[in-house]
Amino acid sequence: AIGPVADLRIVNGEISPDGFPRVATLAGGSFPGPVIRGNKGDNFQINVINELVNHTDTVRSTTVHWHGIHQHGQNIMDGLAFVTQCPIAPGNSFLYNFTIPDQAGTFWYHSHYQVQYCDGLKGALIVDDPEDPYRFWYDVDDESTIITLSDWYHEPAELVPRPAVIDSALINGVGRYDGGPQVPLAVVNVEPWKRYRIRLINMACKPAYTFSIDKHVFTVIEADGVNTDPYIVDSLQIFAAQRYSFILEANQPVDNYWIRALPSRGDPSFEDGHNSAVLRYRGAPEEEPTNKTWNLNLPLNESYLHSLEPHVPGSPGLGGADIELNLNFTKPDNEYVDNYTVNGHSYIPPSVPVLLQIMSGARTAQQLLPMGNVYPLPRNKVIELTLPGGAPGGPHPFHLHGHDFSVVRSAGSTAHNYYNPVRRDTVSIGEGGDNVTIRFTTDNPGPWMLHCHIDWHLYIGMALVFVEAPDDIVSTDLNATNPNLESWTDLCPVYNS
Ligand code: C2O
Ligand code: CU
Repeated sequence: AIGPVADLRIVNGEISPDGFPRVATLAGGSFPGPVIRGNKGDNFQINVINELVNHTDTVRSTTVHWHGIHQHGQNIMDGLAFVTQCPIAPGNSFLYNFTIPDQAGTFWYHSHYQVQYCDGLKGALIVDDPEDPYRFWYDVDDESTIITLSDWYHEPAELVPRPAVIDSALINGVGRYDGGPQVPLAVVNVEPWKRYRIRLINMACKPAYTFSIDKHVFTVIEADGVNTDPYIVDSLQIFAAQRYSFILEANQPVDNYWIRALPSRGDPSFEDGHNSAVLRYRGAPEEEPTNKTWNLNLPLNESYLHSLEPHVPGSPGLGGADIELNLNFTKPDNEYVDNYTVNGHSYIPPSVPVLLQIMSGARTAQQLLPMGNVYPLPRNKVIELTLPGGAPGGPHPFHLHGHDFSVVRSAGSTAHNYYNPVRRDTVSIGEGGDNVTIRFTTDNPGPWMLHCHIDWHLYIGMALVFVEAPDDIVSTDLNATNPNLESWTDLCPVYNS
């Protein structure tokens, strides 16, 4: 792990996480990138240095987004290309300098430029809160274990046929593809009778996974950086960009047990160690598990989300919201030629970052992004967003920057729940007919994107930008911390030729 003050070099390098070598785009030279870990209240200064050199990858510019961090009063550190900044050109650097005053839990970072994070630029971001009173309740022996789930493709993300089908599922950066070599799987070591807080992060560009550990139940205590009341499960469905923390007690006989992450569909099955890792008790032989027992009596999936309650209740606002917005989506027949639309428009990144346009005085949707998909919102209002459950091409995991939201109606549930609903930053809108409804309060001035976290869907337009309280945005003197920024006052230059 690296601390809150560090250089993060973005490089090209050949890796073979599933035994198939290819050039990837890497944070700190590794896959996943280094864990960044600090405490609530810390000032993080991550200097991202772009050393991409263009082998088979076509994309050489970059940004880094800190997924789930609210960036209150520091929107400019959100790392979203063409919304809060120009992409960082090769040979340049950008200092992400932000504090995390009021959040703790499991987050991650990833490129937010084109479909670059699918090529490897991603890692865990953990914020500890040593003073959290909840820690005395869950009382674990160890909080160091992180399990990352990812998808992997043998071609650069640009060239992966759409809709994408994974070549392999990776757990902690390794996996096996159909017909490939028996790559050693990730091992999570435990000691008998100890209690672990394990953090689970789905860093995939596409699939949801059903995660389980043979013969073990575990207790969920956090969803997307928000503590939840304890909820016991034996499996959970985790969509792209979602995170959970759970307590695992090593209370089974000393042995090896499969850790499973089954992709939602159309991908290699479990047999022969696909989609899996090993939970190994101290004293067990260094082998893969021989028994196969998989219970699914206590699942947590998106239609059970209302069972998960925030440990500290929030206020989604009872009764009517101040502003209600319904979103509708269309899916293109051919994902190469046409785009997704949101309420009739595809999101196409502007050539001047939205934040810069606001700083220069633009205010209306027409001024900001004339081709659509910008929604100015006034300050301190309760916004209720309704997304269609049956959106084509789904399920689509939707993420809102700058906020947690209350899921007052989750996929598959028939009623609204305004009593302490789950609060998180990414929710699946499912494939069924029922709408998903979320609420958030406009208490964080700045442009914040709402988008599908399937990266190819975002790339072809499944996004919009809320411009929250534009008159109240705190302006930051970027040049003071980033003296080498060339283009803050002009069009973003294009470096990809
Ligand atoms: Cu994981 Cu727009 O973010
Ligand atoms: Cu999508």
